[in-house]
Amino acid sequence: MKVLVIGSGGREHAIAAKLAESNKVDKVYAAPGNPGMQHTAECIDVKENDHERLIHFAKDNEVTFTVVGPEAPLLDGIVNHFQEAGLKVFGPTQEAALIEGSKSFAKSLMERYHIPTGSYKVFSQYDEAADYIEKNGVPIVIKADGLAAGKGVTVAFSKKEALEALSDILEDNKFGDAGSEVVLEEYLEGEELSLMAFVHGETVIPMVGAQDHKRAYNGDEGPNTGGMGAYSPVPQFTNNDIDRAVREVLQPAASGLVKEGCSFTGILYAGLMMTEEGPKVIEFNARFGDPEAQVVLPRLKSDLSSVILELLNGGVPELEWSSEAVLGVVAASKGYPGSYEKYKPLTSLPSSEYLYYAGVEKEGDQLLTAGGRVLLAAEKASRLKEAKEAVYQKLEKLETEYLFYRTDIGDKAIFRDDT
Ligand code: AMP
Ligand code: GLY
Repeated sequence: MKVLVIGSGGREHAIAAKLAESNKVDKVYAAPGNPGMQHTAECIDVKENDHERLIHFAKDNEVTFTVVGPEAPLLDGIVNHFQEAGLKVFGPTQEAALIEGSKSFAKSLMERYHIPTGSYKVFSQYDEAADYIEKNGVPIVIKADGLAAGKGVTVAFSKKEALEALSDILEDNKFGDAGSEVVLEEYLEGEELSLMAFVHGETVIPMVGAQDHKRAYNGDEGPNTGGMGAYSPVPQFTNNDIDRAVREVLQPAASGLVKEGCSFTGILYAGLMMTEEGPKVIEFNARFGDPEAQVVLPRLKSDLSSVILELLNGGVPELEWSSEAVLGVVAASKGYPGSYEKYKPLTSLPSSEYLYYAGVEKEGDQLLTAGGRVLLAAEKASRLKEAKEAVYQKLEKLETEYLFYRTDIGDKAIFRDDT
């Protein structure tokens, strides 16, 4: 088989690497990919929003199926376009991807199908939203309605902070069209869990859990980012907790989308707050998490290409998982998620078991930084603690003049695992 992965980040590097492991896969293409994944996939110089050229490429090269990594092309309707062209593609249609692309769509779906989530209200006028904040007080969560690369969310503990976030979105248009509406949401207390599943219509096959680290700095300080590191499994939660989240969240969401006439195919990701009352949804994503994919896929023992094909053909593939733990740490450009310098040489790299590249370019033989999140280094070990020690030991080699990383990835789990 020849397969095509669309996207250019660490998640796509991890998807490509897992597909390349299969003895049924002769060739993995990535469009556009990045120069750090060249040993894994042949990178094709076609952007993820150029659907027409991607379709031509898939046809000309007899690609068996295409996997779409990021949300933007999904919301642009890439799956609809591939399907119209008669091509096999793994990802949700534009209509189904709205579960990620519009928080108000996701919220009303949850309301209709009794999926637990924080209470909320949607506003487009600053004054009305400010009134609501005045009346309801803090803490409160303020979210731009549309896609904002994980940065459109403010958890406000003071009214001043809440009103500033509101004004950024509705008055200063900091998120453009994505912020024409704002969702004000109840603050949920608990620990977070990312739970992803392979979905095709009513079929929901959960993966193992993972935990992301959204804040930029140690101790969950600093601004929200796309994710600074992750680990799997999450020993804070039992199999019963996971089963409950599948039963109360993922399955009703998939079934709900079928009933609404926008059946979901692809990876459904539930960002959950595990509260005292049970799991509650913080967000849905219509794709693999980044960096969750980079720690979950290395634990998948089943052949990813067979899983996807069986699912697309209406089957119910069984997943086999390694009992080992994987922990991954993101190295980002200094300044991320704010502004940062680009095109700095990546000179000394960690010799990690898993090294997934994201924001990189190449000049001659030299890899250069070219984005916020630059790479993720991960290790697998029998326990999280050992995986953590191994990752950080190898990261010591990384030249950090232009890069930074958190040094506490996994600590919450390791602390409890040990006690
Ligand atoms: P999101 O982009 O929706 O995943 O939100 C980013 C981060 O903000 C989440 O990972 C949580 O840490 C936090 N967050 C979002 N919604 C809530 C909520 N309702 N209560 C508490 N924290 C939240
Ligand atoms: N790591 C969170 C996300 O992919 O949205």
